Amino acid sequence: MSSADNLARSDRLRKRPPLAPSTSLASAAAQAGLIYGAAASNADLQDEVLRAALVRECGAITPEFEMKWDAIEPAQGERRFGATDRLLDFAWSHGMAFRGHTPWWHLSTPRWLDGAEAKDFAKAARSHLIAMAERYAGRIHSWDVVNEAVEPADGRSDGLRRSAFLAALGPGYVAEAFGTIAEIDQTALLVLNEMGLEYEGPAAQAKRRSVLRLLESLVGSGAPVGCLGLQCHLSASDRPSANAEFREFLGEVRAMALKVMITELDVDGAVVRGDRAVVDRAVADVYADVVETVAAEGDLIGVVTWGVSDAKSWLNDRENRRAPRGLPLDASGRRKASWRALARGLATRARRGADSGSGG
Ligand code: G3I
Repeated sequence: MSSADNLARSDRLRKRPPLAPSTSLASAAAQAGLIYGAAASNADLQDEVLRAALVRECGAITPEFEMKWDAIEPAQGERRFGATDRLLDFAWSHGMAFRGHTPWWHLSTPRWLDGAEAKDFAKAARSHLIAMAERYAGRIHSWDVVNEAVEPADGRSDGLRRSAFLAALGPGYVAEAFGTIAEIDQTALLVLNEMGLEYEGPAAQAKRRSVLRLLESLVGSGAPVGCLGLQCHLSASDRPSANAEFREFLGEVRAMALKVMITELDVDGAVVRGDRAVVDRAVADVYADVVETVAAEGDLIGVVTWGVSDAKSWLNDRENRRAPRGLPLDASGRRKASWRALARGLATRARRGADSGSGG
């Protein structure tokens, strides 16, 4: 897309109608038949500003880390569900959906399994998956059943990541995970979650091709996958709408009758040179762009941001960088341009749905 097109697009995005002041991101999403939520931790619930922002804005919660295997089972056989239970109780007491993130992820296996024999890892992984499904069945909106399963740079013809799960369980481990959870939890939507699918370039395109291959294999074998999770950890210099390969990819996912969810949205504004208003505008343009693109090309069911306020973001943990300002609210919980862009993107999806008679 030319820079003139980009400017025209940004200008068009800015001219959208004002939003009702009472709108929250959850209500804007609900009007479109979608959900909006955010990642949160127990520490966030103890913070007055963050807790109020989550209650005001969210219709769903994703545990940021407490529901991962290394946090649940830090010592073999000693499972700690308390932190997850508190987040679930918070979500349900405020009428929010709760996401299961994420039973099997190569970066959150417990330390006590480092170097374990394949058969021991397989037994422990299956035991963990079943324990999580049994404990939370019926209370999960959607499970990120497997996270980041593909890595074409690992050189396999199927594009699967050379992880401990692959080594111990074989290339059928993804289908196995979906089948196991579906047997125990018949109400949740089952999601394959992946990062970097939105980016430009050959590496991202190779990842998109590998994800399509995996999804085709899962759907073809009858595995109960219902949705692709797009993490969407973006930079303010990204323009998903200008990425024809990404848009084509979304169309191919839709053709498989699979839904898509934006599962971990944040936009790193540290790359932008300028004052706070310039950074916030650049971040907001990417919020508008990605929601509009995914809603137009895929069967979008929801948007989750990876945190709700700049006061708490994994992007802040990186040193010697300008403030990323990547979330909908500033560090004081005030709504930024990215909040307005997201709310408008969701509201526009609502209007488009109403116009086409396709409901939300
Ligand atoms: O809270 C404890 C603290 O008590 C303890 O002293 C300290 C040292 O052990 O750890 C603290 O917990 C850390 C937690 O973040 C809170 O800061 C965990 O060790 C650390 O592993 C955890 O990192 C999380 C990371 O996933 C790994 O689970 C990040 O918060 C979280 O933002 C990040 O999220 C991932 C998604 O799940 C998948 N997609 C990428 C995304 C960003 O990396």
